[in-house]
Amino acid sequence: MTRKLGRGVAVVGAGMSKFGAFPDKTGRDLFVEAYREMAHGIDKGFDPREIDAIYVGNFSSDLFEKQAHNAPIMVDVVGLTPRSATRVEDACASGGVALRQGLMAIASGLADMVLVGGFERMTALPTAEVTDTLAAAADGLYEIPAGFTFPGFYAAIASAYMHKYGLTPEHLMHVAIKNHANGALNPKAQFGVTIAAWMQGRVEPAKKKNKPVPAWQNEFDFLHDDAANPMVAWPLRLFDCSPITDGAACVLLVAEERARDFTEAPLYVIGSGQASGMPLHARADLTSIDAAQIAARQAYDMANVTAADIRLAEVHDCFTIAEIVATEDLGFFAPGRGYGMAEDGVTARDGAKPINTSGGLKSKGHPVGASGVAQVVEVWKQARGEAGERQVKQDVTLALTHNVGGTGQTCAVHIFERR
Ligand code: COA
Repeated sequence: MTRKLGRGVAVVGAGMSKFGAFPDKTGRDLFVEAYREMAHGIDKGFDPREIDAIYVGNFSSDLFEKQAHNAPIMVDVVGLTPRSATRVEDACASGGVALRQGLMAIASGLADMVLVGGFERMTALPTAEVTDTLAAAADGLYEIPAGFTFPGFYAAIASAYMHKYGLTPEHLMHVAIKNHANGALNPKAQFGVTIAAWMQGRVEPAKKKNKPVPAWQNEFDFLHDDAANPMVAWPLRLFDCSPITDGAACVLLVAEERARDFTEAPLYVIGSGQASGMPLHARADLTSIDAAQIAARQAYDMANVTAADIRLAEVHDCFTIAEIVATEDLGFFAPGRGYGMAEDGVTARDGAKPINTSGGLKSKGHPVGASGVAQVVEVWKQARGEAGERQVKQDVTLALTHNVGGTGQTCAVHIFERR
């Protein structure tokens, strides 16, 4: 059944902190950074006292920072107490689901202005503990006792996809090369450097120190080198993985009729979908995510558009294979056809269907609770022509975000329109 919003909703401001590893910052510092950028960027200004409610996406500050009950803390640090504050936890989809909660609050008439944020401060823990913390998003009864970690899950997806469709490791490498090329043009990215430049960064010091100089001729030599790009979980190597990241993002939603009080260039949220799916171990086919397909269908139906209409998308590339599966689940490419699209340039910034112009989770970084909101920040910038050097040439009138929790037990898809 096609659902419609009770009333229209628009994004009128968006901001994010720098993504990276920040030993001196807390989650709340990052949230304030994102909020300030959003608040100062609202074209005609706004009165924060008009904010009715706040939704905060966060996966696990409980374990990462030993801080639970974080939504009222974020309200306090941005000076908005006593507004209602709700934490939204749906693993790596927390941000996208927080957006949907904000949308529903306005569409229902319960609020006219909502702050949607997301944050995660992950790097304080060593990698092994981060891996265990993230694994809590999987099925603890059946999957974790079997030894699965998130790189392991997506490695299973990649190997199933290889078996079914003939994907090779080089196809995954093309995704990483593209996303790092985009991230190199994003000043907020954690790894804002192309893979070619990363390689050179290893060659030059070796030359200077008269050490053996790696014999890489191109990015593929580098990416095949077990020392430079170690295997994490076959067939996924280091550069197939999103990193461990600290960061936050915020967007301001208002009722459609108020949008032009704040900007002449609002971005309307015209489609929203959310679905859940079974854990990976219980699925008959590992090469697609049902929840993503269902959430996409709901969003397309609500927006009355098709996959072909979407000009640009930020999709959940927590691992390179995840971007390929996402672009098929969203209907951009037929099943088994998505894997060649980075190699063919279709998903490049200047391609027919630009994907992850921000650098994606791979290069921009993946502070899990913030990622779904940060995707909206990129769409906001691209739609308004404010993405700087990474601005796509085509007119971004319709854009989409796709945010996955776990291996697809949750998925939120949103469609945005610039009128
Ligand atoms: N891509 C490319 N390079 C990376 C990287 C990544 N994802 N993560 C770290 N690096 C680089 C570091 O910059 C560092 O480079 P340097 O030696 O030149 O300084 C080097 O690799 C080692 O960094 P370190 O932080 O020690 O890596 P690690 O081995 O502890 O962690 C992973 C690497 C891949 C295991 C970790 O990033 C990870 O677990 N990623 C997946 C996170 C995840 O599952 N998220 C949820 C998804 S659903």
